[in-house]
This record gives sequence, C-alpha cells and structure tokens, in this order.
Amino acid sequence: MRRRTAKNVCGLVPLALNPFHAGFPGKRNSARCAVLTILLLPLFLMACRSNDDDGGGAPSGTATALCEQSDYAATPYELEVPYFFPDPIIPADNPMTLEGVELGRFLFWEKALSRNNAVSCGSCHFPAAAFSDDKPFSFGLYGEPTDRNSMGIINLAWVKDFFWDGRASSLEEQILEPLVHPVEMDFTWAEAVERIGEDPEYQQRFEAAFGTACVDSVRMVKSIAQFMRTMISHRSKFDKARYYGEALLSPAENRGLELFLAEGGDPAFVDGGQGGGDCFHCHGGDLILFTDNLFRNNGLDTVFTDLGRADHTGNPWDEATFRTPTLRNIALTAPYMHDGRFATLDEVIDHYDMGGHFSATLDPLMKLQGIGLSLSPQDKADLIAFLETLTDYEFIENEAFHDPH
Ligand code: HEC
Ligand code: HEC
Repeated sequence: MRRRTAKNVCGLVPLALNPFHAGFPGKRNSARCAVLTILLLPLFLMACRSNDDDGGGAPSGTATALCEQSDYAATPYELEVPYFFPDPIIPADNPMTLEGVELGRFLFWEKALSRNNAVSCGSCHFPAAAFSDDKPFSFGLYGEPTDRNSMGIINLAWVKDFFWDGRASSLEEQILEPLVHPVEMDFTWAEAVERIGEDPEYQQRFEAAFGTACVDSVRMVKSIAQFMRTMISHRSKFDKARYYGEALLSPAENRGLELFLAEGGDPAFVDGGQGGGDCFHCHGGDLILFTDNLFRNNGLDTVFTDLGRADHTGNPWDEATFRTPTLRNIALTAPYMHDGRFATLDEVIDHYDMGGHFSATLDPLMKLQGIGLSLSPQDKADLIAFLETLTDYEFIENEAFHDPH
C-alpha cells in the first residue's frame, strides 16, 4: 500500500536545495518526479557538499537511503472524529496506525532530534500552553529566539496550509523544517536517521510501525504526522454545552458568544451594525474549528516588519497576511499573534475594539477601522468569558499526547 518510490526521494530534493524556505513543492506524479530527480541530482549533491562546508543547519541529511517498501500493515488507528466536525485530511500514503502514532509520539518528544540533545518538538509545543509555547518567540537549541510565535498543535488534521504563512502544504512537509532549522534543532536528517537507527528500542518501534527496523526520514516524518493528527480538541466547556449536552454556559459566557457572532458597530451610526465583536467572519461562525484557515491581515501594523504570506507567495497583496489561528484553547496560548505582541486577551480585544491599523492589505472584514467596535467594558469582559470556555482541559491533560520518555 505505502509506496516508497521516486516520489519520496523527490520530496527530499527540493529540501536539500532550499531547506529553510517556504515551498517544498506539492505532490507530483512519480514519473515527472523521477525525471526531475535525475535532472537535479548533480545540483543536489553539490548543495549537500557546500552545506557540509558551512555546517549550520545543513540539509545533507536528506541524502539518506530510503527503506525498502514493504506490504506490511500495522494495526489501523481508528481516529475518533467528533460527530460535529468535518472530514479530516489524512493523506492516502500515510494511513494512521496504532504503532505509527505511538512511534510518532516518541519522536515528537525526542531531544536526540536536535544536534546537542537539548530540545524536542515538545520543547516549543507543550501541553500547558495547548502545545504551543508561553513566550513571544521560542528559544531553540542554542537559546536563540525563533522569528515567530510558536503555534498550538490543535486539530491539525483540518489544516491545509501550515505555519503562519502557509508555506508547507501538508503536515509531512511541515515536519521536515524544524529539524534542520539552524535556530530550532540545527540537525540534518542523515544524522537524525543515524542516531535514531542505532537505538535498539527505536528499531523495534520502527519494525512494529513499518514492518522492518529500517529508519529513514520518510518513516520518521510520517509517524510524527500521524501522532499530531490524533491531537483533536473537542471537549471544551463550550463543546460540552453546545454539542454534548453536558454543561451550561453562564449568562456572561452566553452574552460573549452572542457578541462573537454579531456584526460590529453601533446600529445608530453603522449600517448593519449590531454592536457586536465581529469575530465570526474570520474565526469560524460555524463554531467548530474557530478559524476559516484563510490568510488575512487583521490590522496589526501600518508599516510591516514581517511580510507573512507574501514571504512565500511573493504576491504584494499577501503582505502582512497570516493564517487565521484557531481560537480553541486560546486562554492557554498567550502571548498572541504571529509575533507574540499581545500578552493578554484584554490587549487582543482592545486591538479589535479600536478597529486595527490601516494598510493596503488590511482585510475588508476589519471594516470598522477608524471607527472601532465601541465595545463597553462589560462587552469586553463577556467576550473574554466566552473565549475562556474554549479551553479543553481533557485535551491538554490527555496522557496520550504527553512525553513518553
Ligand atoms: C525552537 C522551537 C520549536 C521547535 C523545537 C519546534 N517548533 Fe514547531 N513551531 C515553532 C514556531 C516558532 C512555529 C511557527 C513558525 C512559522 O510560522 O514561521 C512552529 C510551527 C509548527 C507547526 C505549524 C502549526 C500550524 O498550525 O500550521 C507545527 C505542526 C509544528 N511547529 C510542529 C513541530 C514539530 C513536529 C517539531 C519537531 C520536529 C517542531 N515543531 C519543533 C517552534 C518550534
Ligand atoms: C479580518 C479577520 C479577523 C477578524 C474579524 C478577527 N480576527 Fe482574530 N485573528 C485574525 C488573524 C489573521 C489573526 C492572526 C494575525 C497575526 O498574528 O498576524 C488573528 C489572531 C487572533 C488572536 C490571537 C491568536 C493566537 O494564536 O495568537 C486572537 C485571540 C483573536 N484573533 C481573537 C479575535 C476576536 C476575539 C475577534 C473579534 C473581536 C477577532 N479575532 C476578529 C483574523 C481576524
């Protein structure tokens, strides 16, 4: 079933050529891919050599041999999709298995995946912060800060474009990046494969998940992706009230929900205004994922320091647009925004209340720019009370997501 052919090799070639940048190309068919691989191979090898010379975050690890394909089938993992969620995105070439998910959990929490054994994925994505980090920027293996705020690992099986700027188009593609990033883990896939491959416990886990003890980057990436797809948050107080009939929202929380769903602006002065918070346009009016997963400029700046999605697309209309983040578990993921500029939800609400800063790419849905939402102190408190109902303690306390080492 799982095919480990030129397609896999191909996915790795662009990584070697361009490791830190956006845009590992999407899926291609194998034939085109094989041709491309042959054409690019000399370049690929040169890139590896020159990167070996300068050391930092070299992608030479991608030149590792790939494991033999086998027909082995591990135990299928029955992903429990909440009845009110849409269908998850699970790539056909990476079906979820019990053994794969478990291996992925070990690798996610594996500090040996960083050059100096200092950080794992979990160092910047830990439970108390809903699998994000509690700092504006995270600190990598040498204590240097990342360029952006860490993102929560929440319901990623419903995301199509990963990172704040959407530069990775699958979880499998996304995972390639942090390991070789010079600030985050500063390793190479070759070295990671060698280190993990020498460990007898891991050999057993790879055999259980994939049929042979062979370790390669494709198997590592697939298992980590499988693990992250199990991290589904759907049991917040809000869910228990709305979908499970197990809780009731307080009057303040209910009023906050109404404000979340109402158009902004004082009806006496603004056409269609309902005196609401106007959040639902972008953060999911269906009240399921709490994001539209689109790229938008919510008016943080007039002069941009981070071009966001335009870094990836080169399109000036994408400047300073970022993927709308989910608001699930938002009370746990402070500080806020792609650069962690707001320390509290009060500061976030104040930002929206003043309408945001004008710029050429400001989202038209930030329509009260210059006027503001005119929220009262009570409105703001109720809105925050509602946002706090989106915290899912069962999710963050779920042992299956915690460090198994
Ligand atoms: C040093 C801190 C750090 C480490 C280590 C780290 N990450 Fe991240 N992670 C971040 C930051 C910062 C971002 C946002 C980067 C951006 O958008 O440019 C991020 C983004 C992500 C995203 C995107 C989420 C989304 O909604 O698009 C995923 C998934 C992720 N990391 C998984 C991992 C995995 C898996 C590992 C280990 C292989 C890992 N991270 C290691 C800091 C880290
Ligand atoms: C025009 C679309 C839009 C509207 C309207 C909007 N948001 Fe956002 N929101 C975004 C985007 C895009 C981001 C990420 C911006 C960034 O980091 O550059 C964001 C970020 C946030 C964050 C920080 C999330 C994090 O993980 O750091 C919170 C909290 C938030 N919004 C709450 C709200 C609330 C509450 C409202 C209503 C008062 C609202 N938003 C209205 C698009 C919107």
